Amino acid sequence: MRMYDLIMKKRNGGKLAKEEIYFMVDGYTRGEIPDYQMSAMMMAIYFVGMDEEETLHLTMAMAESGEMLDLSQIQGVKVDKHSTGGVGDKTSLALTPMVAACGVKIAKMSGRGLGHTGGTIDKLESFKGFSTEISTDQFIENVNKIGIAIMGQTRELAPADKKLYALRDVTATVDNMSLIASSIMSKKLAAGADAIVLDVKTGSGAFMKKRADAFALAQEMVRLGRNAGRNTMAVVSDMDQPLGNAIGNILEVKEAIATLKGQGPADFTELCLSLGSLMLIAGGVAKDEQEGRDKLLKVIEDGSALSKLAEFVKAQGGDDSPVYDSELFEQAAISEAIVSPDYGYVQKIVCDEAGIASLILGGGRETKESVIDLTVGIILKKKVGDEVEPGDELAVLYANDPDKLKAAKERLQNAYHIGKQKPAKSSVIIGVL
Ligand code: URA
Repeated sequence: MRMYDLIMKKRNGGKLAKEEIYFMVDGYTRGEIPDYQMSAMMMAIYFVGMDEEETLHLTMAMAESGEMLDLSQIQGVKVDKHSTGGVGDKTSLALTPMVAACGVKIAKMSGRGLGHTGGTIDKLESFKGFSTEISTDQFIENVNKIGIAIMGQTRELAPADKKLYALRDVTATVDNMSLIASSIMSKKLAAGADAIVLDVKTGSGAFMKKRADAFALAQEMVRLGRNAGRNTMAVVSDMDQPLGNAIGNILEVKEAIATLKGQGPADFTELCLSLGSLMLIAGGVAKDEQEGRDKLLKVIEDGSALSKLAEFVKAQGGDDSPVYDSELFEQAAISEAIVSPDYGYVQKIVCDEAGIASLILGGGRETKESVIDLTVGIILKKKVGDEVEPGDELAVLYANDPDKLKAAKERLQNAYHIGKQKPAKSSVIIGVL
């Protein structure tokens, strides 16, 4: 078999066979197929597409390219959760301790921030000493002992995806449905959980800008998960404006903590309850969504979700004291607000622009080597549908560098659109599969 022939077959509209897909994934992982041939293949797939069968084979080939975690030493149903990425998306930080406090085992694999979107690992590192670089044995022990553990993607887990993702990122081949679905699901399948709950984002801050594409991606991932024998469910949720009010690592952790105390923003709390109830159903501790929501609200009310977060942070080497006193987190040196120029309603907050404003402040990575400033970010004071007077604060930016603050302020001001017509308030949950 020759990679050249496979590239030509795909370029000419052909369908790749299972052996051909395994040949290219294995060869690329081992370094026998060079980046330039794989880049050409990715671009051919981008334009020609892959059908369901090809996508399934690509997913399994990437999942099997490294270690497939065996979590059979953990008793009970192990549940993982994944978001396709967004702005202000601190869901895992609040959701996973809530679900674990209800008695469902959380065995989760997380990633770092990507472009304008944030990542759970970066956010968790807001707790001094916290590490997701734990061994598989430690991971299993923590899930058994306290019901929750989160690890990063190790070199051994789905290495084909790790290599391919880096290649796609620099060859403009990320936003293809089959490639995204197989990339995410290969990691999830390799990570070994029995049940997977997916949060597929749609809107200006998401990879999938159009709702129809988000539903198609959700459907595809659910199909891939079920095909591999995992109980897989998905929620399609709104990312047309940032989730909650906080953007930026420590600011988002603070908001997640407030949510665990029952003081979180309505949209963010609603998303946690929706995803959480699916996780409780998957974990076998709730028979339906209503029972799931009731249980989640109870662990918020009685404080057990908050103490589960502290337990989890401590178990992975972090200082848990800010869980009970958020003032202990480091703070940015300067803050400045942007204000409304007019009377009217917030029509739109261009979500990826808000994410880029936070990135400019230092809250995200410009390059793979960038070091994140955990203290900087944005607190939104007004969201879509809110009424504003001239001079009302729209958002406050937190920074450590006046030049970055100036550039981010301009970007954020342009992200806000104010108009006279009151827009309809939309729900954060768009659909459940
Ligand atoms: N997240 C992933 O892990 N892979 C993609 O292709 C896109 C988002």
